[in-house]
Amino acid sequence: MSPQTFTADPSPSALSVQLGPLRLSSPAILAPLAGYTDSAMRRLCRRHGAGMVFSEMLSGEGTRRSSEKTFKMAAFHPEERPYFVQFFATNPEQAAEAARKLSELEPDGLDLNFGCPVRKIIFNQGGSALLRDVPLLARIVEAVVKAAGVPVSVKMRSGWDHRSLNAVEIARAVADAGAAWVTVHARTRSEFYEGRAHWEWIGEVKAAVSIPVVGNGDVRRAQDAVRLMDFTHCDAVMIGRAAIGYPFIFREVNHLLQHGQPLAPATPRERCEAARQQLQWMAEERGERRAVLEFRKHLLAYVRGLPGSVRFKTEAVTLEDADAVMNALRGFVASLPDEPIAPPWPTDNPMVEGSLTEPRQDSAL
Ligand SMILES: Cc1cc2nc3c(=O)[nH]c(=O)nc-3n(C[C@H](O)[C@H](O)[C@H](O)COP(=O)(O)O)c2cc1C
Repeated sequence: MSPQTFTADPSPSALSVQLGPLRLSSPAILAPLAGYTDSAMRRLCRRHGAGMVFSEMLSGEGTRRSSEKTFKMAAFHPEERPYFVQFFATNPEQAAEAARKLSELEPDGLDLNFGCPVRKIIFNQGGSALLRDVPLLARIVEAVVKAAGVPVSVKMRSGWDHRSLNAVEIARAVADAGAAWVTVHARTRSEFYEGRAHWEWIGEVKAAVSIPVVGNGDVRRAQDAVRLMDFTHCDAVMIGRAAIGYPFIFREVNHLLQHGQPLAPATPRERCEAARQQLQWMAEERGERRAVLEFRKHLLAYVRGLPGSVRFKTEAVTLEDADAVMNALRGFVASLPDEPIAPPWPTDNPMVEGSLTEPRQDSAL
């Protein structure tokens, strides 16, 4: 794999990228994150320059049974488009029925999850369990492509473990089955979210298939996104943990791609305003009380790395109404100089500080 040299291009169209039938305004995409990427977070990331967004992973079985909870999780605001609903399925019939029902919501597309490492999902032969059964995985993709009235993409890991690295085989199978593109999270199931992502595995898939390839894993700063694209020649990059409490990552990637120079990080006041907006949208969608509780984990991420944040966090997580939370955040931010402050994780060794957050083992599916 030969790295390409990145060249900045200031024209706005230089950012746009074709993923199958979709024209995106940016190659920086928000990853699906169970427990995080609800409508409010997706909308905020689109406003800050994400090229497209994904729902949290839904259950194909829940969708097939028309579970109210599942359909609530799939609902979206028009500002989120392009928006794909992600789900996992364990067999082609269930997958096709789920795809038909989800297509009725008119998302821009559907994404099939073959990467989830959580035991509960694996136990039911879903998520990354299917990496060990490529023929079944391919039949699921084929069934969804046939049933869905919208484009279908696939998100996968590089294999079950280091002894069974089959990302290239799977990518070829899903391309043959009609997927519009494939996203590769460059870790095996056994690695969960630990260690560094193996970007070279993304490059191998890119070299092997003609459908677009989205690279994913350990993009923490704008520079990482550019390096990942340079190193693997992938068509777009998907950003997960780095976008939690920091939607600005997307505008930073876009700026670097366009101008070749890093954009200054967000100031504490900008972080505060983004947090306010996110909490407001969450409250509009599910009521203030639930919104405040569910916003806590985002709030902790918004203040990460700001001087004095440890004390602020201890106080802030006890607050129960939105005004109190926002007043506390404004008060905290007012005590800081309003200068750009980069998020705390280092660029070239992203996992040194450990994961920002781990997926919940019992995420609401
Ligand atoms: C809290 C959390 C929840 C996640 N939920 C999902 C999910 O619902 N669907 C999915 O395909 N991947 C999920 N992932 C994996 C991410 O989409 C992504 O592949 C992974 O975090 C690596 O990217 P990053 O280093 O940019 O975070 C989740 C990861 C985390 C940390």
